[in-house]
Amino acid sequence: MATDDTTYRWVKDGALGPGRMRYGADYNPEQWPREVWDEDVRLMREAGVNVVSLGIFSWALLEPRPGEWDFGWLDDVMGLLHENGIDVDLATATASPPPWLAKRHPEILPVTIDGTTLWPGSRQHWRPTSPVFREYALRLTRALAERYADHPALVAWHISNELGCHNLYDFSDDAARAFRVWLQDRYASLDALNEAWGTAFWSQHYEEWDEILPPRAAPTQRNPGQQLDFERFSSDAVRDHLRAENAVLAEVTPDVPRTTNFMVAQNVRDIDYASWLYDVDFVSNDHYLRPGELGRDDLSFWANLTGNLAGGRPWFLMEHATSAVNWRAVNPPKRPGELVRDALTHVGHGADAVCYFQWRQSRAGGERYHSGMVPHAGADSRVFRDVVDLGAQLQALAPVTGTRREKARVGLVFDYESWWVSGRDSHPSESPAYDDETLLWYRALLDLGVRVDVVPIAADLHEYEVVIAPMLHVVPAALRDRLTAFVSAGGHLVTTYFSGVVNENDHVWLGGYPGALRDLLGVTVEEFAPMLPGETTALSSGTVVRDWAERISRVEADVEILDTYRDGDLAGAPAVTRRQGGRASGTGSASGSATYVSAAVGREGARALLQRLAADVEALAGDARAADGAVEVIVRADERGRYLFLANRTDDAVTVAASGELIGGAATSDGATTTIEPRGVAVVADGLSVRS
Ligand code: GLA
Ligand code: GLA
Repeated sequence: MATDDTTYRWVKDGALGPGRMRYGADYNPEQWPREVWDEDVRLMREAGVNVVSLGIFSWALLEPRPGEWDFGWLDDVMGLLHENGIDVDLATATASPPPWLAKRHPEILPVTIDGTTLWPGSRQHWRPTSPVFREYALRLTRALAERYADHPALVAWHISNELGCHNLYDFSDDAARAFRVWLQDRYASLDALNEAWGTAFWSQHYEEWDEILPPRAAPTQRNPGQQLDFERFSSDAVRDHLRAENAVLAEVTPDVPRTTNFMVAQNVRDIDYASWLYDVDFVSNDHYLRPGELGRDDLSFWANLTGNLAGGRPWFLMEHATSAVNWRAVNPPKRPGELVRDALTHVGHGADAVCYFQWRQSRAGGERYHSGMVPHAGADSRVFRDVVDLGAQLQALAPVTGTRREKARVGLVFDYESWWVSGRDSHPSESPAYDDETLLWYRALLDLGVRVDVVPIAADLHEYEVVIAPMLHVVPAALRDRLTAFVSAGGHLVTTYFSGVVNENDHVWLGGYPGALRDLLGVTVEEFAPMLPGETTALSSGTVVRDWAERISRVEADVEILDTYRDGDLAGAPAVTRRQGGRASGTGSASGSATYVSAAVGREGARALLQRLAADVEALAGDARAADGAVEVIVRADERGRYLFLANRTDDAVTVAASGELIGGAATSDGATTTIEPRGVAVVADGLSVRS
């Protein structure tokens, strides 16, 4: 967790804010003839755009031949934007190397798990560990930094782009070499590595460092320790690239804040962003809406985590889409109201900038069907009218900038390593999905109107009264001790099936599951009982279970059984348990509790349990303004102002008792109540006076 204020110079120095919401997009003028640029800036002004990310994919035009620079066109664009009051978040342009580089140095090309080379013709065809690529990328970074150091339009550096999006896993020989160095640093000795990877199994024992390879395609199940360390290594390898570019920029332009766009929500799950926070001056994130019923809550979940990765401070929404994307099997457009709703939900969770990919929808290239702020149809379109409307709304939200996400009383843990490891092959079942399970508990909390912070595992748990840690699969001894201390101090912990099972090396804790958490929870599970697709079983409360159950064979005397299995082979066995005070009962502060849910109870089951716990855990009582879960209540505040973002989760208008001054969003207020339009977000100044 970033706790050091100097990490966020953007916020501290006000380089990009606060004072006004930032609004804009990735801008790719090189895809258009010069005359279009004039229309671009005119429409940007009409929409209230005040920042663009420039040059992200421009390497081949900026350095058309090795060491020959063509900055003329970029000078023109930078100048034009500046004349029009639009600031630039300038990319280092290293995300997609030019064809000449791959032709000269094919050894920069990444290699997949099965040995396939990823060729040029798309983007990100470079090995994060290639010394050759690094050299060329840093030369370009330096050239750009030197040229634009004092340009008045430059407000931030955009390092590379979505680092690791397509090239996170590289199994090349460069990667093998770098992996060994990383392992030597982690383990110092081969004995320690052999122990951590459990190489006594299947004759995998290593005698020399250079016998070690990335976990390339193999005849059958690969070593889990090797896979986990390769995931950790790969996350660190792209971060090394970030650090290398960062160092050049810090040297040439020490006062210009630097960021790189995270993909906190994306299908690239194997980057531990919690470990990248000190490498950026402000957190920025990209988010693409999941189509369908859970899309809105999913957006809220990841925005919430981003806000907490940023330590509650404002962050920068670097990319989202005005409407459809082009990279899922089916790409529906956004529904009416969703463009504004999505943007304001991010703002509620702390974004002080709302940007899109991209400004003008491409007419050629792989992303021609991806929406933009200016669609193919032109400015006379629903999307552009919404874009202009949003621009005006964001302007009115200027007072909100600089405020922080107000801490909730409930924390929902999101642990990257549990995500990676619980989804490994060769497990009792392929069904449990860590992200789905975590999202389901988030949705159950929203359904009950409970405000929650989604936090990385390193967060200070003592800041919360309740901590929910679904499927916390990887529990090293130190984490077990933190959770135990949390409960001893009066905290309420809820955790679910397949938790506590392994340590940091993916070695099973012996003596019965939930392993490291067995003593804290006071239960012993002898066998997992995953279910076949389509099978269900029920608990005595009526909750329906799918995919996963466990045989709890022993509960300690002070453990209360909240629910039992009703039928099937587990009939009568405990299913949901709760130990008051955890292990520390009798030590004087036994008000805490540790609850274990041994089965996949789904959103309804989670809701029913939370409701039951709310009887004596006040922090789980819902906010009345949530109108029985129809509205998500989000709060941003500082000493001068407090703002409620009331996000309508439904397709109907909702009226809530919120009396403050309505300062934005799709809503009306009669002074005592606020009526929020379908899929709308009302922004209400609550209590304290509105900041000027
Ligand atoms: C990512 C990239 C953008 C663009 C969008 C499309 O976020 O950073 O360049 O490809 O995806 O959704
Ligand atoms: C990944 C990213 C998306 C987009 C697509 C394009 O899925 O997460 O944002 O860039 O790649 O292929």
